[in-house]
Amino acid sequence: MSEKPVESLSEGEAAEELKRLAAEIAEHDRRYHTEDAPTISDAEYDALARRNLAIEERFPDLVREDSPSRRVGAPPAEGFAKVRHAVPMLSLAKAYTDQDVADFIERGRRFFDRDKDLDIAFTAEPKIDGLSASLRYENGVFVQGATRGDGTVGEDITANLKTIADIPKKLQGSGWPEIIEIRGEVYMTYAEFEALKQRSAAVGGQDYVNPRNTAAGSLRQKDPSVTASRNLKFFAYAWGYTTADPAPTQYDSVQKFKEWGFKVSPLMVRAKSIDELIAHYHRIEEQRSSLGYDIDGVVYKVDQLELQRRWGFVTGEPRWAIAHKFPAEQAMTTVERIDIQVGRTGTLAPVARLAPVTVGGVVVENVTLHNEDYIKGFDSNGQPIRDGIDVRIGDTVVIQRAGDVIPQIVSVVIDKRPANAVPYEFPHTCPVCGSPATREINEKTGKEDSRRRCTGEMICAAQAVERLRHFVSRGALDIEGLGAENIDLFFNSGLVKTAADIFTLKDRRPAVMRALAERREEQAKLREEASGKTRKNVRSVEERNYEGLDKLFAAIDARREPELDRFIFALGIRHIGETTAAVLARQFSTIEELIRVGKEMAKAENPHSVFPSINGIGDTVINALRDFFGNERNDDVLDALLAQVHPKPYVVEISAGSEVSGKTVVFTGSLEKMTRSEAKAMAERLGAKVAGSVSAKTDLVVAGPGAGSKLKVASDLGIEVIDEDTWLQRIGRGG
Ligand code: IVH
Repeated sequence: MSEKPVESLSEGEAAEELKRLAAEIAEHDRRYHTEDAPTISDAEYDALARRNLAIEERFPDLVREDSPSRRVGAPPAEGFAKVRHAVPMLSLAKAYTDQDVADFIERGRRFFDRDKDLDIAFTAEPKIDGLSASLRYENGVFVQGATRGDGTVGEDITANLKTIADIPKKLQGSGWPEIIEIRGEVYMTYAEFEALKQRSAAVGGQDYVNPRNTAAGSLRQKDPSVTASRNLKFFAYAWGYTTADPAPTQYDSVQKFKEWGFKVSPLMVRAKSIDELIAHYHRIEEQRSSLGYDIDGVVYKVDQLELQRRWGFVTGEPRWAIAHKFPAEQAMTTVERIDIQVGRTGTLAPVARLAPVTVGGVVVENVTLHNEDYIKGFDSNGQPIRDGIDVRIGDTVVIQRAGDVIPQIVSVVIDKRPANAVPYEFPHTCPVCGSPATREINEKTGKEDSRRRCTGEMICAAQAVERLRHFVSRGALDIEGLGAENIDLFFNSGLVKTAADIFTLKDRRPAVMRALAERREEQAKLREEASGKTRKNVRSVEERNYEGLDKLFAAIDARREPELDRFIFALGIRHIGETTAAVLARQFSTIEELIRVGKEMAKAENPHSVFPSINGIGDTVINALRDFFGNERNDDVLDALLAQVHPKPYVVEISAGSEVSGKTVVFTGSLEKMTRSEAKAMAERLGAKVAGSVSAKTDLVVAGPGAGSKLKVASDLGIEVIDEDTWLQRIGRGG
């Protein structure tokens, strides 16, 4: 995005951009607050918010109803009870420079200027990078705890907050107000974060991105014992509704919190002048990397509560407080290598391996280079791309970690570039399997995809697990008892490398049992660790596995003659979903015929001279078929599979005798015994026409649970409506 300076925006452009920014920021808010999965750094987010503000300042009449400057955070996630905060939970205005801080103080002086001798004091304390929570105490007893949510309504996470040791269930000492909502930050230490990551890695569990998101995820657990196992921490720094001020000043109030049993930041001070505030900012900044948890700035607050009240609020923010953010930390290092990682969908992702360097207390050794164009700095049309950077092996680079943990390259120090450094040549073959790696043309935009992708499909080890999971999934072979978890296990223990191996598992029974037993042991051990209890005597592993295994092998055998459309879908050819697979099955009738045409296409100059014109099949699919079947490396895998599995030829059984032949049928609501595409294919095989919406031409509506407006239209038009079971009986498949 090329950004026009705010000063040169026309009113029309400004309105357009405010609209775009409102939508974009709302989306980032949602990702951050509701999903705990931000996709941009804090610095990038702040830049968006600042631009929005700058435009609004220039065009105050254009401030939108849904402007990000008018709201805080994102609405609460579904799942927990909602709590309306008695006093809204606010966010903080931000300062990025010493000048911003000076302006803040100046605004205060001007506001109180009738009172020239007024002595404004401030507090300064770290801004903890966690999640804020509000804890309600009635007569000293913790009764309810909530997340911030959108600032007005949060989620009731009382049970989870009760597991946090830093949060007293009962206030200690004396002198607490009858009712008070204590507010503060829940966070996770680096040590705890690392320990969790290791526990997870040991069992092949999920990866955790950073302590903040992990703390957020931990707080949203349905099961409080999971939250408990995460050892979250809490600092108290503010309050909401209260029946009495804790003390006359901010500083003394927080000291009271300490007496009542809370942890408060040891780095909070009281200061009189801007110089003292800035000095403390730098002291905290110096200690940042040794604190053991993330902070992203220093918060200054007016100390006297009386003055806080007088100065008041703007929408969503107190006027009397500001967060002085730390600049994103930067460091210089060199690029030692550029490696290509192959993702599960075959994408080639370049990663720069760096000479290790500490940035913001974390050692950084890798940084993503995104894609081929990013490294060159321009796209395939020679257009410079945003943030693109010509990085070469041997280059000295400046890297940055913003508030989030993901590091990025900011710039290349060209003066330090070695004389022999050459532009990086992005490989055109997959480093894992050697297949060609290509960039697709997006049919709609005509543009080349920025990602290069391995065409090795079936033979590429990097893609293997994902493909195997797909192979057994519901719309594909749908093998009962063989879900993603078992596939992972069999793949990791070397028992299943390609789909054909699934069908020979039976011949390797002892090895399969060993793998299952090992996993069971591991899981039991983990549960023991988590609960602190030792295991009761369970049935012996062998006893349980025998039954389960026989069932699994029987389920696998039951799938040796799958429907052709399922089989085609199961192959996981790019762009071939269930519907397209069904169309192909109907067109080609046997897998052998489809393979033959695919191979012919690969040899032909123009695929269209070989491939018949079929309604609903465009170039994307045709090219995908040609690439897949034309890739000789897929031959062995496919041959091995077809030695085990014999897809049923697709027989078009248009029986004029069928009750539904010639009728127009509409399916609506959810079907329980088959997928939508299966139902459609089945109806068509019997000579029915399947339509997407109900009209006067409709003869029959098959309605499952959740059917909506179509049902009403049908009854208005007097069209017959039946349920799934009746439908199955009518077409002779009923049980
Ligand atoms: S005071 C009335 N103090 O920053 C002001 N907030 O951007 C209420 N935060 O939602 C907030 N450390 O999650 C305050 N020492 C601190 C803080 C702090 C972190 C967070 C808090 C708040 C956000 C505002």
